[in-house]
Amino acid sequence: MNQKYKYFKIYDMENWKFAQIIVNWQHQFGRNNLPWQKNNDVYSIWISEIMLQQTQVKTVVPYFKKFIHTFNNIYDLSKSDLNKILHLWSGLGYYNRAHNIYKTSKIIVDKYNGFFPKNVYNLTQLPGIGLTTAHAILSLAYNFSLPILDSNVKRILTRFYNLKKNNISNIKYEKKLWKIIKLLIPIHHAKKFNQGMMDLGSLICSYKNPKCTICPIKISCKYTKYKSHTVKKIQINNLKKRKRLFYIVLQHKKYIYLKYRKKKTIWKKMFCFPEFYNLQDMQCWLSKKNIQKIYHEKYYHTNHKFSHFELKMIFIHITIKNTKFKKNKHNLWYNIQEKQHIGIPKPIYNILIQITNQFHKNEKII
Ligand code: ADE
Repeated sequence: MNQKYKYFKIYDMENWKFAQIIVNWQHQFGRNNLPWQKNNDVYSIWISEIMLQQTQVKTVVPYFKKFIHTFNNIYDLSKSDLNKILHLWSGLGYYNRAHNIYKTSKIIVDKYNGFFPKNVYNLTQLPGIGLTTAHAILSLAYNFSLPILDSNVKRILTRFYNLKKNNISNIKYEKKLWKIIKLLIPIHHAKKFNQGMMDLGSLICSYKNPKCTICPIKISCKYTKYKSHTVKKIQINNLKKRKRLFYIVLQHKKYIYLKYRKKKTIWKKMFCFPEFYNLQDMQCWLSKKNIQKIYHEKYYHTNHKFSHFELKMIFIHITIKNTKFKKNKHNLWYNIQEKQHIGIPKPIYNILIQITNQFHKNEKII
């Protein structure tokens, strides 16, 4: 029995019908006015697809607009410097994506004369482009009949066919989902189909509260039937690892000390306050540097969520008398009254804004 027939037999909606419903629904209710859909050029689609990895559309839109406004073609991007790219990326997270965009832009210009390869193999050789991103680029830019299997699509398939992971590995489970989506993708209108699946996944078949009553494929959906219109709450994974780190915020007049994170796993090649595992290490560092405080310490704290852990960040803000640090390319004194084009992680940037506001308030009082 061939694969296609197997799915016809198992599931009560035929594949062509499934695709037709998704395409029609996308046309009527999907997202057709996203900024990267305007010109529909491969450069914009590539940037948007990288930004959309692990990030929601509404978060990406303002970052995308700013990015394209600054680098409106691959040549400008490849000639830029990484600090400027990381600066624009600040707050979007998963900064490796920005490093990869920069590397890929150079390869496209140097090796491919500025043109994106139009085949899956060459695309997947580029930094940051996996199979689903390559398929997304080729289907959304050129309507190639190649399916996308992102987290939205995986959730729809899992629910629609009531697939059970049982004891199989993630790799085997992914393989199973690829098999199904390859059977569902239509030859024509692949672009609409792929966009429709992603839109359906985020607008209707959402992770927490799926809107099954208005879903276009509810008639044959095993999940809707199983729920019989009472929304089954999916347990949110609260078992994220927690970490705690300390940061020293050294202020001298209008300057704040920032360190370049050369090889750290998070926020690599960005600028940050010096980071410590505990207060003793911080004290040690301060005495080694012979730092004399002049004001009482202020404390701030914030929780920052990463995909695989939650970070409690404790900031200790002190004002110091002198700036007798050996200056090198791995540190700088950030002038809080001037905008600087360097990559600063969002939680660090938020503290800098808080300090800047306080600084201006104090200046007015004086
Ligand atoms: N997620 C990944 N790519 C997407 C796109 N083009 N539209 C909406 N969500 C997405």
